[in-house]
Amino acid sequence: MANKKILVVGSSNMDFSMNISRIPSLGETVIDDGGVAYTPGGKGANATIALTKLGADCAFATKLGADLHGQKLYKYYSDIGIDTKYIKVDHDHPTGLAVVMREGDGGNRIVVYPGANSYLTTDGVLAAFDCEPDAVYIGFEIPFSVALAAAKIAYAKNIPVFVDPAPASKDYDLESLPPVEVFSPNETETFEYTGIMPSTMDASLRAAFALSKRVKAKYIVIKQGARGAYLYDGKRYNTYPAIRGEKVVDTTAAGDTFTAALTLEYLRNSGDIEEAIRFANAAAAIAISRVGASTSVPTSEEVYQLLSSQK
Ligand code: RIB
Repeated sequence: MANKKILVVGSSNMDFSMNISRIPSLGETVIDDGGVAYTPGGKGANATIALTKLGADCAFATKLGADLHGQKLYKYYSDIGIDTKYIKVDHDHPTGLAVVMREGDGGNRIVVYPGANSYLTTDGVLAAFDCEPDAVYIGFEIPFSVALAAAKIAYAKNIPVFVDPAPASKDYDLESLPPVEVFSPNETETFEYTGIMPSTMDASLRAAFALSKRVKAKYIVIKQGARGAYLYDGKRYNTYPAIRGEKVVDTTAAGDTFTAALTLEYLRNSGDIEEAIRFANAAAAIAISRVGASTSVPTSEEVYQLLSSQK
């Protein structure tokens, strides 16, 4: 069977990550030799890298700066086999940079300087549809107008759309999105979009229902971290518990990996959403057992192995 071809429209960042034992107080300087690293990141890029490692053929519509970070990221993408033909280079703004503070429990705090990501345009994305994708994957770490236009172009061409609506903003007019296949926010994004934190079964149903009033999605899949994922399709709802790996080392990009894995497995299994969620839970469990954002993504073989070890 041929690999699925997926066009990702989203962000690219260089991640500067630091392992910290505690957050400094205001005005305080803390010396912490926990380790630092520069690694490829950005929610769009993380998903593209995850899809590629999991076995999809990806074209990536994004914007990088004409700087060293941009050059390094471009080379990394093309070295791992991403179609870089549609990547734009911005000569006036730097590549996006994320400062990732990683705490001892694997949790993180992230601040993003969007740089060139803010200057991705609809015209810049339009040409990427020439790659004739089986699906379009859209993230929100780019101008919302561009994400919206990409979804509308895909819909007009009858191409299924998968949305990871992160990061969230109350300002986004979700109602203007065309019908999408899967809409997959995490808990805080769900709260931002609905005002309901999906922390219990009852609240999850209310939040999923509220989302379904705003977004025309075949499936709403709320990512609930250590609790797993919550599915709502307008009639049915169900929870799919997270798969427990041996350890939690770094949760950066766990959500990006989850939605990317879900998208690919859904396409490979003719729209079997439950299988896709189980696969995505397993992919995220492996990703959080390793350090890094996109660098922590497993292959599909590793995911299937973990799934069969759970039976
Ligand atoms: O989801 C994780 C990502 O968020 C990081 O890679 C960082 O770049 C920010 O975009």
